[in-house]
Amino acid sequence: MPVSKMPVSKIEAIRALFPALTSQTYMSICDKMILADPVRQAVDSFLDKLAMASANRTDHEDFVESSRIKFAQMMSVKPDEVAVTRNVSDGVNAIAWAFPFKAGDNIVICTDAEHPNNIYPWLRLRERDIDVRIVPAINGRIDIDAMTAAMDSRTRLATVASVSFAPGYRTDTTKLGEYCQKKNIFLLIDGVQSAGILHHDLAQEPIDAFATSTSKGLLGLYGSGFMYINENWLDRLNPAYLSRTGVDLGSDAASAMGEHHYQLYASAKRFEVGSYNLAASYAADASLSLLNAIGTQAIEAHVLHLARALREGLAEYGLLISKPQQTLEESHIITCGELDAGGHGFSHDTRINEMHKTLLDANITHTLRRGQLRFGLHVYNNMADVEHVLSTLNNMK
Ligand SMILES: Cc1ncc(COP(=O)(O)O)c(C=O)c1O
Repeated sequence: MPVSKMPVSKIEAIRALFPALTSQTYMSICDKMILADPVRQAVDSFLDKLAMASANRTDHEDFVESSRIKFAQMMSVKPDEVAVTRNVSDGVNAIAWAFPFKAGDNIVICTDAEHPNNIYPWLRLRERDIDVRIVPAINGRIDIDAMTAAMDSRTRLATVASVSFAPGYRTDTTKLGEYCQKKNIFLLIDGVQSAGILHHDLAQEPIDAFATSTSKGLLGLYGSGFMYINENWLDRLNPAYLSRTGVDLGSDAASAMGEHHYQLYASAKRFEVGSYNLAASYAADASLSLLNAIGTQAIEAHVLHLARALREGLAEYGLLISKPQQTLEESHIITCGELDAGGHGFSHDTRINEMHKTLLDANITHTLRRGQLRFGLHVYNNMADVEHVLSTLNNMK
């Protein structure tokens, strides 16, 4: 069992940074972030500078660069391999339109296990005569063997979530990636459910791109994200959108008028378009400092330890249907109830609905997704949170 080595005093110090934790047991990072005081202060400082006109755009853009560097550090990649984006959809669409597909090529995806934002961008490829090969999930889990069996000599790209939003299994991206590397197939990861919570060392992982937003485990704001793209692919990716931000204008980029002969950045900056979401960059800069100071290895050990305890406790209710089959599948997302016995925010199972209401009455923030009760943990959760859920449900018996 992954053992959290995080001292209680350290978790308490982290908890004290999140005002939301004073009024609720927050178990919903898989839905959205909660704001830490230093992150809010960073955004306030940005607004103060706007109000007083005390900084110019390039001063603000220092925070874009510094957040890029901190994300690169978190993921063990080069800053030049990181694009600052708006969200997961932005990153995924950027790849879908920049990739050098030819009519008759195909891509492979397991839509049963993906969020719609990593499905629609691929379905659109059909308009360009790309064959979108859809592989079914098995009990909510991505079947890597079925994905590789669907590939052939015209397969150019595959995409999976690092962790599904429900039932919350971690995908074996290493097994899939090793196969894709052998066949020169581009592997794109929707990493939003794991970024900032589970450890990644993207330079070592056999993947080509990783898209995320800052609005979940990275503890930033909505409307901003990052995308890692392996440097070996960059010059083969031709972004659909272009503005001055993506063009290499040399040292005087801000004042250059733009030439009719231009060159895209060699780096992932080629994917950036127009003005940045500066408030979100201030936020990400602060939240990434917080997370990097703790380290994602320690965060992962901590959340997996708590997740295991929660899962074991819930199993006693006979409702824990989504049980990881191997350690590799374990994540910080715990779901219970039957998958797809309901949808987004509702369940057809009366017992699940009663549990949902009882938990909400006890100020335990969680969600119903694909008909399942869903809990998502992060570094600020502790064993008392797990016990609060279990004792609340126990009182229902
Ligand atoms: C796996 C996954 N991908 C993508 C998203 C959201 O995508 P975007 O950042 O484009 O809003 C979510 C949101 O819940 C998600 O769970």
